[in-house]
Amino acid sequence: MLADRLKTLAPSSTLAVQAKARELRARGVDVVSFGAGEPDFDTPERVKRAAVEAMRRGQTKYTEVGGIPELRAAVCAKLKRDNALDYEPADVLVSCGAKHALFNLVVALVNPGDEVLVPSPFWVSYPEQVRLVGGVPVAVDTQEETGFDLDPERLRAAVTPRTRVIVLNSPNNPTGAVFSPAALEAVARLAVDRGLWLVSDECYEALTFEGRHVSIAALGPDVKARTLVVNTCSKAYAMTGWRIGYAAGPRALVRAMTDVQSQVTSNPSSIAQWAAVEALSGSQDDVAKMVGEFDRRRRLIVAGLNALPGVRCVTPKGAFYAFANVAGLVGRTWTRGGARVTLGGSVDVAAFLLEEARVAVVPGVDFGSDAHLRLSYATSDALIEKGLERMASALRTLS
Ligand SMILES: Cc1ncc(COP(=O)(O)O)c(C=O)c1O
Repeated sequence: MLADRLKTLAPSSTLAVQAKARELRARGVDVVSFGAGEPDFDTPERVKRAAVEAMRRGQTKYTEVGGIPELRAAVCAKLKRDNALDYEPADVLVSCGAKHALFNLVVALVNPGDEVLVPSPFWVSYPEQVRLVGGVPVAVDTQEETGFDLDPERLRAAVTPRTRVIVLNSPNNPTGAVFSPAALEAVARLAVDRGLWLVSDECYEALTFEGRHVSIAALGPDVKARTLVVNTCSKAYAMTGWRIGYAAGPRALVRAMTDVQSQVTSNPSSIAQWAAVEALSGSQDDVAKMVGEFDRRRRLIVAGLNALPGVRCVTPKGAFYAFANVAGLVGRTWTRGGARVTLGGSVDVAAFLLEEARVAVVPGVDFGSDAHLRLSYATSDALIEKGLERMASALRTLS
């Protein structure tokens, strides 16, 4: 019944974990969820006020497909302020979230059979989006020993005549890696030498706790000329539900992406766009407050995970995820409904934790590593502590 492209499409596993936790809660089960891909903070009041004012002013109609001029100008000012990048409003596209901007990109750029290099572990949507347009995602491993830093040599070795794009995501979901300037520089040179496109997903930029966020596009005009910078209001301003993301890059590419968007969704919500103008241009104090909170929670969860038997976790430098290595639990057994069950990989470990500890986590296999689990710490200290205690008790029941 369905198109062939649906045969390989995996639905978003991160959203599935959240849905499962929500469903259990609705049935009265007390679940601690480390599944969230969004801040647990509320959208800042100043942003909500801007949306209300926009509605009152009657800003409730279609807008320019690529975003209102005021928002594209605000994006340019943000990229200048935070990333030392010069763009003009015509180089910017505003989409229904960064996810939508990224999809516009693969439609505009990737031909069937084109290869897209995706450093692994990776955010689940990159390979799926590439497959949806007939492209071939190629996972290129990073190493836990380097804190999952980009590995330029492995990327270089993975380039073939069909390679068209390298996708970068720093700070990284799921590992929390902040790519080192040296690795970014080497990958920038690789892209220039081999004529490849770079996509730099900087959605977690504001949540950089260690090191410095470097936008690869800032490494030189030759790099900028082949880079699409993608960012969002979702994470920095706790605006996941408003669906405003944006992309900036070479004008011809951005124009092509805008044409794609014009046939699919038209503009993102006019009201949310006005809210985003305030988010990007107003006082950034609320961002700093949120970052301080996340930094503290990061230390709490990493210390707790490393104290669990069979679990180890490198300290993430950014975003709000801990990527815990649970290879030490694989092969252990638990008793389920009277039967002994062996933990074969991350899906089994996640299922065990949900059933035995009532703790929801996302299996690493969906991000490219079956030895890991992703835990979001976008939740309160009290819940982090409760979840860790429950995991500790459940792990004691394993043989
Ligand atoms: C790495 C990464 N990129 C992009 C997105 C999409 O963000 P949005 O579509 O809400 O802007 C997410 C959301 O989880 C993400 O983790």
